[in-house]
This record gives sequence, C-alpha cells and structure tokens, in this order.
Amino acid sequence: MKDIDIADLRRITELIKTKHSYDFTNYAMSSFKRRIVRILELYNLTVDSLIVKLSQPKFLEEFLNEITVNVTEMFRDPSFWRVLRDDIIPAILLNHQKIRIWHAGCSSGEEVFSMAILLKEMDILHNVQVIATDLDTNILERAKSGAYNLKNMDLNEKNYIRFQGTGSLKDYYQEVNGKAVMDKSLVMDVSFRKHDLVKGGIFNKFDLVLCRNVMIYFNQALQNEVLKKFHESLFKYGYLAIGSKESLIWCDIANKFIVVNNEEKIYKKIKD
Ligand SMILES: C[S@@+](CC[C@H](N)C(=O)[O-])C[C@H]1O[C@@H](n2cnc3c(N)ncnc32)[C@H](O)[C@@H]1O
Repeated sequence: MKDIDIADLRRITELIKTKHSYDFTNYAMSSFKRRIVRILELYNLTVDSLIVKLSQPKFLEEFLNEITVNVTEMFRDPSFWRVLRDDIIPAILLNHQKIRIWHAGCSSGEEVFSMAILLKEMDILHNVQVIATDLDTNILERAKSGAYNLKNMDLNEKNYIRFQGTGSLKDYYQEVNGKAVMDKSLVMDVSFRKHDLVKGGIFNKFDLVLCRNVMIYFNQALQNEVLKKFHESLFKYGYLAIGSKESLIWCDIANKFIVVNNEEKIYKKIKD
C-alpha cells in the first residue's frame, strides 16, 4: 500500500485550493488521506505525478468523484422518513402553506426522489419548493437524469417498504435500457444547483434543511462553520436533519436548536 505523510496531503490540498478553488483543508484527515491513497493506487501515481495530472480537467473531475463519497440510497434509514412524514412535515404545515426544503449534499438525487415521493403521497408535492445542491457537478447531472442502476432498486424498494409508503416504488419508475428511470414529474419543480458548503454562501431561507452523511467527512472546525450556515438558512422554528452518525450537541450554535428526535437526528431552530 502506498503511504503519504501530512506534508504530501498539504501540498495536494494547497494546489487544489489555489489552482482549482476547491478547499479540502478541513476535511477529516483520516478519510481524506485514505481516499488520496486509493487514487494513487488506482491510477498508479506518485504524489508528484498526481499533482501534475490534476491540471487535466478530465482527471480533476475523476479525482473529485473519488474524493467526495457519493454513496446514497432511496429512503435511507426508513424510520427517519416516517418521522418526516408523520411529525415534521405536518408540524411545518401548521404555520406555512408553502414549504421550502434544501437538500445539501444531495449526491445522485436518491434522497430528493425519496422526498418527492413522500410529498406526493401526502398530496402536497405542489406546495413545496425544493433546492438540491452538491459540490460535484457530475453527480448533480446524474441526479437530474433520475436514471439509476436497476440492481440498486431492490435495496431502495426494501427501504420504501420499511418506510410504509402507500404504493410500490415501481409506481414511480420505468425500466428503460437496463435503468430505472424515475418519473420526472416528481422533480419538475426541484432546482438542482452546484453549491460548495465550504465556500458557498447562504442563498435562501428554508423550513427544512437536510444535510445527511456529508459533514461526517469534515473536521470539527468545518462542521462548526457549515452548521452556522444552516442556522442562518433556516426560518425560526425550521428543522435541520443530519446523518445518523452526526451530531450538533458540541457545536457553537447548539444552544440555538432543540432536539426534536435524537434517534433520527432532527433538530429545530429556536433562536436567531
Ligand atoms: C455520502 S453522500 C450523502 C448523500 C445523501 N445526503 C445521503 O445521505 O444519502 C455525500 C455528498 O456530499 C457531497 N459533498 C462533499 N463535500 C461537499 C461540499 N463541500 N459541498 C457540498 N457537497 C459536498 C458529495 O459530493 C456527496 O455527494
């Protein structure tokens, strides 16, 4: 196995930051290092040759794809989606007729389609404005296409059954050339946009922000910064959902939220 030290990692992050304007300086060191080593092995590179190769736009895209972990599922953690449907969305509807949702780090869009299906089954899809963002433009294109490997649909269907949806996941896609092509009307009003949580600003106010399994790749300083952005992006009494292995108990703005559901990691903003 190839090995690299902190100085190598710094050289790589510095170059990407100055030449390509992506800032991985505050990504969690151990997983970032693992991914760099994987890239070196995959492409049979040294750190020096990696640095040279990063000037090729096509390689830079492949590099970003490897660095940003894109693993996702529809209705991942089905009980989370049940709580959204049964508790959180009805609570938002008590005060707002139109709901605004931000999926931050939406990857290939499975989470966005899950939300759209949930909202359609509640018959409120037309009342919701959704923005779905990610750092990685390639993965956003996949999200927009809504075409998924059929082999992944078994797991997605199992999650949907555990979510206790009203129909079958098959109601929402067609099999075309070996792909599961999702019903595009589900995301007709979704705006898919490139947005970098590290460098990007606040662009709107939301009732619900989902950022699940993204901050797990950031160090605590960066998580703190990003959580401040989510706090600012939420209306007062808006909800923040993070991944099952993540928490905001320790962060600077923790006292501005209350825990709504600890198991599902759902928080509510109570102070500006
Ligand atoms: C593991 S996926 C999570 C997908 C989905 N939220 C879920 O839980 O299934 C992490 C996503 O975060 C994105 N990401 C990583 N760093 C980011 C950043 N700085 N800004 C925006 N998105 C980022 C990656 O491109 C990737 O698509």
